[in-house]
Amino acid sequence: MFDRVVLASDLVDATGAALAGAGEVVSVASVHEAARAARPQARVPLARSAVANDLHLPLAEPPFRHLFRGEEVRSAVARVVLSARLPPALFEELAALRAADPGRYRHAVATAAVTARLLMVAVGDAPALPDLAAAGLLHDLGMRHVPPAVARAAGALDREGTRALAAHPLLGGLHLARHLGAHPAVEAALAHHWKSGAGYPALARSPSRSVEVVGVASAFVALTQPRPYRSCPFDARGAADVLIDEARARLADPSTVRLLVHALRGGSGESRGVRFGRQRVGQAPLVNRHTPIAPTAAAL
Ligand SMILES: [Fe+2]
Ligand SMILES: [Fe+2]
Repeated sequence: MFDRVVLASDLVDATGAALAGAGEVVSVASVHEAARAARPQARVPLARSAVANDLHLPLAEPPFRHLFRGEEVRSAVARVVLSARLPPALFEELAALRAADPGRYRHAVATAAVTARLLMVAVGDAPALPDLAAAGLLHDLGMRHVPPAVARAAGALDREGTRALAAHPLLGGLHLARHLGAHPAVEAALAHHWKSGAGYPALARSPSRSVEVVGVASAFVALTQPRPYRSCPFDARGAADVLIDEARARLADPSTVRLLVHALRGGSGESRGVRFGRQRVGQAPLVNRHTPIAPTAAAL
């Protein structure tokens, strides 16, 4: 099972500072230990980072037009995302990601915006929302520690590539724990591929509902963005179809997927009343060489 990683080399951040040394074992428990041991760092609003200049991009992308309909919604989402406070070291990490891997940076910013929108539909305004939007922004930070040849592979991954990719929730969790201590971003990094226990890594208990929202937002955004291993992205309905199928198979939390569908339909009223349609009506890519990673790959 992908529940621990033995570091083959030092884990370093964008500034070259060491986060962990070669030979260290990273597990869910060691990430939580690192969060407990972290020293508080000064935090600055995201409005003072490059994200403030880039947030308009996902808000205007066609797959998200139903989610961010209307200037009022877009400004409310921007207000939540940009009021998140983070240590400047993580701004540097985001700037490095933006330069090295613009596609994954777009994924981060869009996931922050979609997370904020889904939570606003669910609970309105709440003090916890900026931290949860930051969790959306940072959930995949561990991909910075995955070799580019694996992160950008156009074909199915081999055993070694699968292992390297499956390490990213733990590596991201550790990276964030060192800077943030206990924070929803650490939990989102660990849990966004959990898939109700069918994904990785294994967790002792289900993540909170708000962290589930980050996972569904990330999956929805990933399906609607270009990837080298498939011929085109899913459209919004096609992505919702995939997630509805996963909810039926208990690979995604049904109430969170219901929240996504509810938000795509405009978000007024209660999401509990949403019924999933049986028919697949969205657009899906003709070629898709995505490598599913499940605990059954434990023997790798
Ligand atoms: Fe991920
Ligand atoms: Fe993601």
